[in-house]
Amino acid sequence: MNMHLDHAKRILATNDRGGYTVPADRLYPFQWNWDSAFVAMGFALYDTDRAYRELERLVEGQWADGMIPHIVFHQPSDTYFPGPDVWRTSHSIPTSGITQPPVFAIALRKLHETTNDRARTQPLYEAALKWHRWWYAARDPEGTGLVALLHPWESGSDNSPAWDIALARVPTTSDTLVIRKDTGHVNASMRPRDDDYKRFIHLVDVYAACGWKPAEQWQKAPFKVAEIQTTAILLKAGEDLEHIAGMLGRSEDADEIAAFNEKTRKAILAQWRSGLSRFVSRDLVSGLDIEAPTQAGFIPLLSLDLNEAVVDSMVAEMQAWSKGLKVGFPTTKPGIESWEPKRYWRGPAWAIINWLLIDGLRRNGRFDEAEALRQSTTTAIEARGFAEYFDPLTGEGCGGGGFSWTAAAYMALVI
Ligand code: SER
Repeated sequence: MNMHLDHAKRILATNDRGGYTVPADRLYPFQWNWDSAFVAMGFALYDTDRAYRELERLVEGQWADGMIPHIVFHQPSDTYFPGPDVWRTSHSIPTSGITQPPVFAIALRKLHETTNDRARTQPLYEAALKWHRWWYAARDPEGTGLVALLHPWESGSDNSPAWDIALARVPTTSDTLVIRKDTGHVNASMRPRDDDYKRFIHLVDVYAACGWKPAEQWQKAPFKVAEIQTTAILLKAGEDLEHIAGMLGRSEDADEIAAFNEKTRKAILAQWRSGLSRFVSRDLVSGLDIEAPTQAGFIPLLSLDLNEAVVDSMVAEMQAWSKGLKVGFPTTKPGIESWEPKRYWRGPAWAIINWLLIDGLRRNGRFDEAEALRQSTTTAIEARGFAEYFDPLTGEGCGGGGFSWTAAAYMALVI
């Protein structure tokens, strides 16, 4: 028995708060949306009942309009900011007011294929379908095929250099007092800066003042990015949702989902920039491409069957970024001015991003590169523990420790 696998399971057990898993004790003391989807895929490998529970508990937070929020505050905790009093939403269980990358249906398909438990899958499938419809209605009202984020937290890549230009337009003023708790748990040099937090909270104030109504938020949003990583995840989840619809005999739904997928597939392909060897997001406020070199530009490998020339060029670029690193894949291109190898999403390597890239490389026939990244990821975890993320230069584990999605990723990458 691999002792690290045992350790990974213990982390998920320790972070269990009653059918849902906190990402990390104290630092993130509630249920987070995409964290839970990754965690469910980890549980699916050895405890399918618990995997279903994870998704069921997340869906308790789903709004009437279909949005699944990025945080569900099942129980109070004073170790995190911003809490429910800052979000000012009106769901029966307190939640945040924004969403997160829709990994959910990817997890649900894996789980359903393991159990074939229609009774348990069906309500979760309905929830996922409602959420995907919400994405297209609320976050792509003009029908472009790319979905937009109104807050950097929705990307999961909070302080990525991808947002530097768009976020600089957001004022640092807020009605809410910003009292950070994260820097009491983790060294401030590994976290977003104070000005980022002020802007994050400014956006929360703007949307709370819109009563969290999607159409009003869309009009008033000072930050609006048609985002390539989230859209690529939505497409993979859409493919998996279409597949589940087929398995459940829901052919009308399957046609509806297939149409979403087709539109999005074309839209992502149009974001390919051969001169950069990656895909780009679009800043919907300025109308310009976001050219900052981050991991997001490679995530479309996950959901597209790309032609060989494109894959060759992406893989060569990924190799150039990874050269000389102890652990791949860096979330910002090493060596550029905005690269900070220990600061959250400005350079470190994250196991769940690697998991998506590994699946994407395999999908596109690049098994050797996928295997190299798999080994680099699992070796880093075995050497440095289940850290939130890793410094790609030194391999040091950074951010929070005993981290749930790193445990889930480890399991998925070794089993
Ligand atoms: N990742 C954010 C935080 O650090 C929220 O989703 O609090």
